[in-house]
Amino acid sequence: MTLNIAVLASGRGSNLQSIINSIENGYIKDAAIRVVVSDKREAYALERARNHGIDAVFVDPLSFSDKDQYEGRILEVLDGYDVELLLLAGYMRLLGSNIVRHFKNRIINIHPALLPSFKGLHAQKQALEYGVKVAGCTVHFVDEEMDSGPIILQKCVPVFDDDTEDSLAERILKEEHQIFPEAVKLFAEGRLNIKGRIVLRS
Ligand code: GRF
Repeated sequence: MTLNIAVLASGRGSNLQSIINSIENGYIKDAAIRVVVSDKREAYALERARNHGIDAVFVDPLSFSDKDQYEGRILEVLDGYDVELLLLAGYMRLLGSNIVRHFKNRIINIHPALLPSFKGLHAQKQALEYGVKVAGCTVHFVDEEMDSGPIILQKCVPVFDDDTEDSLAERILKEEHQIFPEAVKLFAEGRLNIKGRIVLRS
């Protein structure tokens, strides 16, 4: 059986690319990305999808009267693909409860900080300004709060005195490209069990 994956992405899509590559090279088995949906017409993620023969759909938030209508359309698109796992790969919006409930425990996000520190936007900048000596990234299941669901994997990197937001983001991104595919692989193999906030690996 092939796991049907959908991806929501707003930007350049390097994390999407890491999942595409991991499926194509056999690291993640028995899984396929069926569709990539973006809230940005120009998102390079859509182009990456097309380059790999994956359906790419732009849903314009501005053409709906509110968030529920907008997300209702996204749900309609996803339902057309029998989606079993939804990945947020640089999707810059907070998911509403309809989507979260529809895919309960089947939505995974990548965040460029060691949660629960530095939730939300500009996480790397927040980390630098706070003065932490270790930063990193987190892959987690999505619940109805922002960047708060059960943690699947984390990876840390050092912070250097001369780091800029860009240099730190780049160091973290390399690790994102490792742990996001690893988490998807674990999910696809049925090896993630959620007990309250705790994710156990078998
Ligand atoms: C990544 O840093 C991810 O952790 C965050 O947004 C960025 C997206 O990068 N949520 P990309 O579009 O995957 O290249």
